[in-house]
Amino acid sequence: MDVHLSTTVAEGVAFRQLIGGKAVDAGSGARIDVVSPSTGQVFASIPASDAADVDNAVKAARTAFDSGPWPKMPAVERGRLLTRLCQLVEKNGSELAALESRDTGKPLRQGRADVVATMRYYEFYGAAADKIHGTTIPFLDGYTALTLREPHGVVAGIIPWNYPLQILARVAGAALAMGNTLVVKPAEDASLTTIRMAELALEAGFPEGVFNVITGYGRDAGAALSAHPLVDYVTFTGSTGTGTAIQQAAAQNNRGVTMELGGKSPQIVFADADIEKAAPVLVNAVIQNGGQTCSAGSRILIERRIYDDLAAMLATRFSALVAGPHDADLDLGALINSKQQARVTAMVSQAEAAGAQILARGTVHKDAPSGGFYFAPALFGGVDPASALAQEEVFGPVLALFPFDGEEEAIRLANGTDYGLVAGIWTKDGGRQHRVAKRVRAGQVFVNAYGAGGGIELPFGGFKRSGHGREKGFEALYDMSATKTVVFHHE
Ligand code: NAI
Ligand code: MG
Repeated sequence: MDVHLSTTVAEGVAFRQLIGGKAVDAGSGARIDVVSPSTGQVFASIPASDAADVDNAVKAARTAFDSGPWPKMPAVERGRLLTRLCQLVEKNGSELAALESRDTGKPLRQGRADVVATMRYYEFYGAAADKIHGTTIPFLDGYTALTLREPHGVVAGIIPWNYPLQILARVAGAALAMGNTLVVKPAEDASLTTIRMAELALEAGFPEGVFNVITGYGRDAGAALSAHPLVDYVTFTGSTGTGTAIQQAAAQNNRGVTMELGGKSPQIVFADADIEKAAPVLVNAVIQNGGQTCSAGSRILIERRIYDDLAAMLATRFSALVAGPHDADLDLGALINSKQQARVTAMVSQAEAAGAQILARGTVHKDAPSGGFYFAPALFGGVDPASALAQEEVFGPVLALFPFDGEEEAIRLANGTDYGLVAGIWTKDGGRQHRVAKRVRAGQVFVNAYGAGGGIELPFGGFKRSGHGREKGFEALYDMSATKTVVFHHE
């Protein structure tokens, strides 16, 4: 792949959104600057849509669902279109990786990994489209009862900026496989690959109006989309507060929602664990994507006997981490924007003021542009389990260590936040693996491994404030459809 492409891709382009198969500007003509987090410089622009634009997009999706060729298309054909989209992602992979990386600041390597995962989503859901079916139900004499799995209709997808390509694929793969039509609102900070994917969907042969993209601010375009009465279902990944606002908006129309709202995911390391093997996984789980990952493993609970040894190993690794521009492809890129940089910086200062100790700090590369939104990774010990650093999502490269004594305390600490997205358990004791996996409140539990993202076939979602509904795997196909029961009476 061409590294040069990553700093020139999309230079000066005035992107347009896709409504009903047409590339259009916002009706008002308003635009949002697209900023490279690596430099802080503007390099392109996207439409700043308002409620009127959203209305056009929802109506296009409504028409495509109600009367286009889409509702009559057999499941196998929908699957083939998704498979074709997978092939187009592969064909355009280096451009998509460069675009994602420049738009979000993530290292090019991460952009490429995102492209691979994106292909896997469209591959999986393309193959799954004709493999989900209803049941027949034993009922009264003289009756036959069966269930059909039907699409909701128009699905609104509100996408965050951390993994736009992947999260779009997770929503679009499942929604389109089940026969819904889509209106997607990517984040104002990272809309470019979503626009590009809608173009590729047209090229793949999805009928007009099936895959619409509206760009703009959350408070304008996002709020109008989640409250639109012609939307049948809303799926959202992002912050807990915005998730609450979106659920309230959807509740005005009594529409269903899937909410994926982040976490404070623990990894529990028992004294018998292979810490040499665990250490790189523990670090990567919070460093990947600069810590801007909903499933980041941001707390490590360590059995007291091995606390000092493992803390020292993690400190060595943290000190070696370097952040820099996306195309330099270092351990970390820049954070998404200056607001996120200020938020992470403030949370670290507050933790220090509250008495937590920084055990190690990575660096920002000396040649990194001064306008970029960089943050040197920080490893904390001595963190009060009730403090903000232990309880709140930082969404940056910040890791907190906590000692524990015994299984009960480990479970109490692991479950001691309002979140419940992912957990890791490191032990060789088989009984303990099963006991702890059952008692930890998290939508995904890894034993002697950790997966932040990836594993397209693995159902994913939260308990508690991490949200509800399940994405990925076959489970997502149930969320993206509704059961209809049909009863025949035949004397
Ligand atoms: P956000 O949750 O506000 O933004 C995510 C998406 O929601 C964007 O597309 C945005 O335009 C849209 N949005 C915002 N307000 C909306 C509204 N009222 N109605 C409908 N859509 C709306 O997240 P933000 O402000 O960019 O980041 C703040 C914090 O959120 C981060 O520091 C992080 O802790 C968390 N976050 C978590 C993510 C996750 O994957 N769990 C992803 C992004 C952010
Ligand atoms: Mg950007």
